Amino acid sequence: MRAPRALRPPGPRALPVLGSLVDYTRDPLGFLDACVRDHGDVVGFELLGTPNFFLQRPEHIEHVLVTRNRNYIKEPFQRELLGGRLLGKGLATSEGEAWLRQRRLMQPAFHRQRIAGYGQVMAGFARQQLEAWRDGEIRDVNADMMRLTLGIAVKTLFGLELHGAEESAGPSLARIMDHFSQMQAFLFPEWLPTPENLRFRAAVQRLDTFVFSVIQQRRAAGGGAEDLLSLLLEARDEDGQRLSDPEVRDEVMTLLIAGHETTSLALTFCLHLLAHHPEAEAALHQELDTVLAGRPPGMEDLAALPFTEAVVKEALRLYPPAWTLGREALEDDEIGGWHIPRGAVVSANPWTVHRDARLYEEPLAFRPQRWRDGLEQRLPRFAWFPFGGGPRLCIGVSFAMMETRLVLATLAQRFRFESVPGEETVALLASISLRPKSGVRVRLRARGPSA
Ligand code: HEM
Repeated sequence: MRAPRALRPPGPRALPVLGSLVDYTRDPLGFLDACVRDHGDVVGFELLGTPNFFLQRPEHIEHVLVTRNRNYIKEPFQRELLGGRLLGKGLATSEGEAWLRQRRLMQPAFHRQRIAGYGQVMAGFARQQLEAWRDGEIRDVNADMMRLTLGIAVKTLFGLELHGAEESAGPSLARIMDHFSQMQAFLFPEWLPTPENLRFRAAVQRLDTFVFSVIQQRRAAGGGAEDLLSLLLEARDEDGQRLSDPEVRDEVMTLLIAGHETTSLALTFCLHLLAHHPEAEAALHQELDTVLAGRPPGMEDLAALPFTEAVVKEALRLYPPAWTLGREALEDDEIGGWHIPRGAVVSANPWTVHRDARLYEEPLAFRPQRWRDGLEQRLPRFAWFPFGGGPRLCIGVSFAMMETRLVLATLAQRFRFESVPGEETVALLASISLRPKSGVRVRLRARGPSA
């Protein structure tokens, strides 16, 4: 075997000690774009003394997430910052045997047949949203989608309606997500009593109180319910062990945090893109009107709505809510001929891979129809990976694809979305997720009764 090149692959110039920290945190997406544009497929740089590598080639990403996945664990930020007080030892932040045990325990709750039962809940919440919308009004659809997906999450997780949960869960979740949009979250350890850390801790505490009270009520009421919490409470591992309350809490918190905002963002970006691409929106309407002939969409219609699915896929390509996936190398490795030292962080970035002109024609254009002629089969496996891949593939992928398609079909059947002057582009904030900096406003136009 050829010896790997000893030198670090090309990368941006950096400051001593800090490395590229300032450039990366000031404008993460700009930094990623510049790295790939200027330095190629494996980019090397340092962050606070830790060697970092960006991987742009799908086969290199497959190496990390699939082929040699045992050599790569979640990078320290996810393990320590997210995995600390907030998610504890839940599915997304645990490793090794503990992770495998949890994944096996939870997987059945996410099987296609199981989650099919949530289709009605999802479509029902989307119909409620329609009732709140008026022809001609300008709405922040980001705020609407956050509320809508929170309602769906709370109902499918806990079997609760949003009204009661909204006061405790909604604002606390928003506060927690905002915390990770701030530089402080990365600079100051969680135990330091800065005003921001105290506000964050108080929000986690409020959410904890809510989650524990629901767990206790459900244990007291006994089994029989159909929601995810009941499945978690009833699940037993191979040794017949049940999850303890703190373990259930960590899983519930993980599902709330991992599942609600990501899905809301996917929908928000769909609506933003449709508002700016009337020809794609017209094709979507044509599909919805032909297939549904005016009746509300349900689970059983999804297979007949390929363009609706293509809109969601294309939105996830251009605006992947999980814009970067980081791993830490447990042992030395070699990728693309370059030496990857133990302890290095390697990142696979859907943001740059999904916009690579070698993989996608006109990569920056919103063209849902590109997904209609078998593109996915022709692309390498990790050319489109908004849900990650390998053993740590998003457990909620079917849930999310079902929810986004059902909600989008329900909303677009009854409303058109128009761009609002001054809102042509959406300013992005690449934080724990890729989200709009200050909402997404579109004008709503009711579609005729025939729709
Ligand atoms: C459009 C919506 C969603 C996107 C883009 C998304 C994206 C992702 C990605 C990229 C990962 C892998 C992260 C990594 O490898 O570092 C992941 C993991 C995960 N997601 Fe999702 N997700 C979505 C919706 C959901 C939903 C609806 C749920 C639950 C109801 C969920 C629960 C999880 C969990 C628990 C993990 C950790 C799985 C493990 O490590 O075994 N996600 N998600």
